[in-house]
Amino acid sequence: MNFHVMTLFPEMIEQAMSVSITGRAMKAGHISVNAVNIRDYAQNKHNRVDDYPYGGGAGMVMQAAPVYRCYEDIVKKNGAARVVYLSPQGKVFSQEMAQEYAKEDNLIFLCGHYEGIDERVLEEIVTDYVSIGDYVLTGGELPALVMMDTIARLVPGVLNNEVSAQTESFSEHLLEYPQYTRPEEWHGKKVPPVLLSGNHKLLKEWYREQSVIRTAKNRPDLLEKAELTEKERHLAEQILQQKTE
Ligand code: ADE
Repeated sequence: MNFHVMTLFPEMIEQAMSVSITGRAMKAGHISVNAVNIRDYAQNKHNRVDDYPYGGGAGMVMQAAPVYRCYEDIVKKNGAARVVYLSPQGKVFSQEMAQEYAKEDNLIFLCGHYEGIDERVLEEIVTDYVSIGDYVLTGGELPALVMMDTIARLVPGVLNNEVSAQTESFSEHLLEYPQYTRPEEWHGKKVPPVLLSGNHKLLKEWYREQSVIRTAKNRPDLLEKAELTEKERHLAEQILQQKTE
C-alpha cells in the first residue's frame, strides 16, 4: 500500500507514521508514505496557497491551482488513484470502508486547511469525501492519519498476528471482549477463571458472550447488524433492560 498525502504540513504526516506499527510496516516495505507539500506548487513569490473567499466571510480558502499541480505531479509519478478529501461533509469513516481501501495499491489523501479548498479543484480530482466523525478539526492531517493507521493494519504482513485483525472490535458488528494478563490477581481482582481453564470450547463461548454484553452496554446501535443466536439475543435484551431500570 502506497499512501500519498497532499498537505501543508508534511512533517506532521511523516512523524506520526514513522513510529510504532506503521513505522515498522514502512521499514519492512509493507506500506510507504509520500507526504507532498502543496506549498511547493505555489509558483508565487511568497509561496502563498490561500486567498480571500469570493462573497466575503471569515477565513481563507486554499486555491485550486497549487492543489491541482500537486495532484498532477503525484499522478504523473505514481499513476492514477482514488483521491480522498478529508471533510466533515464526507461519508463517516468505518471499519468496512477501511477494508475496501486496504485493497488499493495507491491512495491519495487531500488535507485541507483554513476554511476549505476552492470547490472547482475538488470537483476535478476528488473521488471520495470522507469524515472521521461529527466534529470539526483544524485540518485534514489528523483525519488522514486516522484513516492511514486503520487501513495500514489491514494490509497483509503489517500485524504479526493475522487473526487479531479479524477477531476484534467491529468484526461481526460486536465490540471486542476484555483482555487480561499476569498477574492472576491484581488489586483484589481475579482473572475470570474460564481464561485459565484451557478449555477452548468454553473460552470461545465466553469471548462471544462478553462481546455481546459489551456491545449491549456500550454500543447497542451495533446490535441491529450483528448476527446473534436466540440465546445471545436474549442476553442482549437482558442487558438493555437493566440499563433502562
Ligand atoms: N476536517 C475537519 N474536520 C474533519 C472531520 N471531522 N473529518 C474529516 N476531515 C475533517
